[in-house]
Amino acid sequence: MDILESRIDVEGEEFLANREAMLALVTELRGELERARNERSEKARARHVRQGKLPVQERLESLLDPGTPFLEIAPLAAKGMYDSKVHAAGIRGGIGVVEGREVLVIATDAMVKGGSMYPMSVKKSIRLQQIAMENRLPVINMIDSGGAYLPLQAEVFPDADDGGQVFYNQAHMSAMGIPQIAAVMGLCTAGAAYIPAMSDHVVHVKGTGAIFLGGPPLVKAATGEIVDQETLGGADLHCRQSGVSDYSAEDDYDAIRRIRALVRRLPPSPKQVPHTRAPREPIYAPEEIYGIVPARLSVPYDVREVLARILDGSELLEFKPLFGPTLVCGWAHIHGYPVGVVGNNGVLFSESALKATQFIQLCDREGVPLVFFQNISGFMIGKDYEAGGITKHGHKMVAAVSLTRVPKFTVIIGGSFGAGNYAMCGRAYKPRMLWMWPNARISVMGGEQAADVLVTVKNEQLAREGQPPLTAEIESAMKEPVIRMIEGESDPWHSTANLWDDGIVDPAKTRDLLGLAISASWNQPLAERAPWGVFRM
Ligand code: COA
Repeated sequence: MDILESRIDVEGEEFLANREAMLALVTELRGELERARNERSEKARARHVRQGKLPVQERLESLLDPGTPFLEIAPLAAKGMYDSKVHAAGIRGGIGVVEGREVLVIATDAMVKGGSMYPMSVKKSIRLQQIAMENRLPVINMIDSGGAYLPLQAEVFPDADDGGQVFYNQAHMSAMGIPQIAAVMGLCTAGAAYIPAMSDHVVHVKGTGAIFLGGPPLVKAATGEIVDQETLGGADLHCRQSGVSDYSAEDDYDAIRRIRALVRRLPPSPKQVPHTRAPREPIYAPEEIYGIVPARLSVPYDVREVLARILDGSELLEFKPLFGPTLVCGWAHIHGYPVGVVGNNGVLFSESALKATQFIQLCDREGVPLVFFQNISGFMIGKDYEAGGITKHGHKMVAAVSLTRVPKFTVIIGGSFGAGNYAMCGRAYKPRMLWMWPNARISVMGGEQAADVLVTVKNEQLAREGQPPLTAEIESAMKEPVIRMIEGESDPWHSTANLWDDGIVDPAKTRDLLGLAISASWNQPLAERAPWGVFRM
């Protein structure tokens, strides 16, 4: 393998200015993550502790094997939405290690509106389940939830991808042989009652845990029956009488001990990792990425400088380096796992798309996962390129990205615009994980371009009607709100709040996150062959 040689002056003015800009973003990110984890109202915290329950952070820490990493998913989901206090969409979740086994953990946070489910909570639950299904990970659910967030019931209940899909997925996971262990750690009402009910194993905490379709107030209102929560749905009732729960636990710690015992007896994972190597740190420090990535997206830079700070030993065996040079493809290792890397070094041309398609086929044949580093303004446009069949060649890349059987991972390290997002494995192409760097931007096109398109369309319409074109004043009045809207919507904070990604990540940590995600992906054995369709030639 070739060692990538950096040409960056780490003491140069440009490096230091970029570094300062990225560090400001990373500091902001750390602050937001801290708020999402710990900012809760005194009232909610006091209520939780009074009830004798552990806060969700402590539940997670007690569950996960000491000293093991937790790959948290979408920790800033719902940021700035609702009353700006629905931190992490009311659910903490991610891939962690329990009893040495990689598992998917989902924990509702009762300190966020009683753990009730907002639209983004439902979306996050479904995303977490998708991760469990794609990577074949056992699911551990720690539930403490008041069910649907009633003021927004129309947005969480009726549609195909609303709350019902959570239970639909649970039935399918059961059929797929994915073990599901639920711990009832609070009052699980209505929809939340189905989460344990649909699981394979149910641990139920005495006194604080309850399962009922309607809580005591609803029962009283509906039938006049007066009943306390323990009698209606407590551990004793469900472990001795109804059989809804399997194991009674004294408190949260006891429940976690029982979960661990259940994980210990699971049949082993079919995990098989082909040809790993001993992991090696890159030669260049990952923190140097801060100074490499320009503060402005429009400033070009060599993606190999980023790769040199992410790949094991800074080594890359580049595929077709002289052909389609605006796309860097090559073989490398990350934390010892073999990967095929695809990184943008400019606009996509027909040659770059063809090169990527061939590279994806090779990785697919050898069972090597693909990692996409997206910084793309789109495919090249213009008469000559259309005549050269750029749409046809782009199709081949998009089809190969869609159909390959190997796990894919995407990191948006800069711009993610137009069809470039598709070809470079955007969210719709089902990468196992998709992360954004804090400097990234995502939209169908830039705000200025979109505003120009709209003005051009309007002027052509006016010309057809025999009217004069828009005045400069009207033109700028028309453009300004479009630019403002697209800039707001393409911001990574907006993306992560909406769960268009699995989180905004510190560029210097990208390598470690990729290592964890690739490791987890191997729990799902590869399909025998890719279901290739017809490539337009
Ligand atoms: N929708 C909207 N808000 C809800 C909610 C729901 N389903 N469940 C709880 N909340 C809110 C409460 O209004 C309260 O808000 P506040 O802190 O702003 O006052 C907060 O969550 C905590 O609720 P509280 O009742 O004070 O806490 P608790 O620990 O004593 O009880 C529940 C928690 C979930 C058991 C209880 O709130 C409850 O029974 N909720 C209704 C459950 C239900 O019937 N859901 C039907 C969904 S289909």
